[in-house]
Amino acid sequence: MLSNNDNRGIWSSKLGFVLAASGSAVGLGNIWGFPTQVASNGGAAFLLIYLLCCFLVGFPLMVAELAIGRHTKRNPVGSLKVLGQAKKIFLLVGFWCVCCGVMILSYYNVVAGWVLSYLFEEIAYFSTNSGLAIFFSDTTNGLKNALFAVVFIIATVSIVIGGVHKGIERAAKLIMPLFICIMLILIAYVFTLKGSMLGISKYLIPDFSSINSSLVFSALGQAFFSLSLGMGVLITYGSYMANDQNIPKAAAYVTLTDFSIAFLAGLLIIPTMYIAQENGIKILDQTGGLLNEDTLVFSVLPELFHSLGGFVGFTFSILFFALLSLAALTSTISLFEVPVSYLIDEHSVGRKKAVLIIAGLVGVISVTISFNVNLIGLFATIFNNIGLPLGGLMISLFLGYFWRTENAMLELRKGFDAIDQGQFVLLWPIFIRYICPLLISLILIVTIYLTLW
Ligand code: PHE
Repeated sequence: MLSNNDNRGIWSSKLGFVLAASGSAVGLGNIWGFPTQVASNGGAAFLLIYLLCCFLVGFPLMVAELAIGRHTKRNPVGSLKVLGQAKKIFLLVGFWCVCCGVMILSYYNVVAGWVLSYLFEEIAYFSTNSGLAIFFSDTTNGLKNALFAVVFIIATVSIVIGGVHKGIERAAKLIMPLFICIMLILIAYVFTLKGSMLGISKYLIPDFSSINSSLVFSALGQAFFSLSLGMGVLITYGSYMANDQNIPKAAAYVTLTDFSIAFLAGLLIIPTMYIAQENGIKILDQTGGLLNEDTLVFSVLPELFHSLGGFVGFTFSILFFALLSLAALTSTISLFEVPVSYLIDEHSVGRKKAVLIIAGLVGVISVTISFNVNLIGLFATIFNNIGLPLGGLMISLFLGYFWRTENAMLELRKGFDAIDQGQFVLLWPIFIRYICPLLISLILIVTIYLTLW
């Protein structure tokens, strides 16, 4: 039953998969979300808890999603239909994944569009065209938002239409090294500026007194979003994996890459904030809390670039917004691939047609959001803060109690002969059956409680 779906796309190499999945994981969540959370949650204390969340909850779940995907060679709906013996509840979980994908993609496009328009804002600012600079920086201008969101959709479409190997993998192989180079150049430069050392110490010296339950929940939520878990991206990417690839090893690389990039983003953004402070830009309120938490990258950072002035300020700002745009693009690609693979597998639609249908659907929702930007908060709460942990919980329960970890282990064994010799074989089932569901249920309950009351 499973073998008739083998002739779908496939990653051409192990590295190809790791780069594509890391591209999905590395996104605005790493470069914008993570440093903002670190700065307002006690620096390295958050970093440590985040590290634990990534490896104790994120990694086992990533292995689970990849195993489901590779075993069935299908999209999230098809995977859960086949393994769940067409039971309605599991089909619903699959549809929920695809639905979260479409909705997260729709508002992520608008935010990614803002990032791209800030690149133009900086060009306009440094070429002293203040009228245009104001236009590009206005995040409430519906028409401008829609225009940039559509540009982002077109960029994503142009890659996804090429398929798994020639589109997604090739783009990841090009973008990820470029991304890392830009990031390292920016960090090296930031370290030479006055004020950066204060930022580094604020980042790396932990304030353990700030660890409380809300910090742990923020870290867990951040890990979910950042690792692209709970909505079937990894089921889909797993479905393109070759049987001889070692899933736990690949998942460990992706988790480590995502964590390392978040760590590096902290090394870039937090010192930058303190450099801005040194230059007279206000970043903290009277109580030491972070001002403009949500709009940090659009408020504090451009001001800093402007205060640096000249060629340096210009180059820094362009590289920074290019970095953010590239990170966003590899994530939108993966979000897009989920509903596309659903249409291809379940409705026998060709890739080109599937891409165009999803582009149309996402385009309509993104344009609507562009004109009503306050919808972003609402959608982020429903589909990201609640949707992803809910999806993750369902997937871990499904694998742990229905498909069962013994069967998943047979799939994992395919690319990992020595699986019985290590601790993985003992620990992973415990994490999937008990620890992940328990911790995820806790975040869900707290998130729902905080949202409603
Ligand atoms: N992981 C991406 C980021 O950090 C966002 C994302 C979430 C992508 C869910 C795919 C699925 O920005």
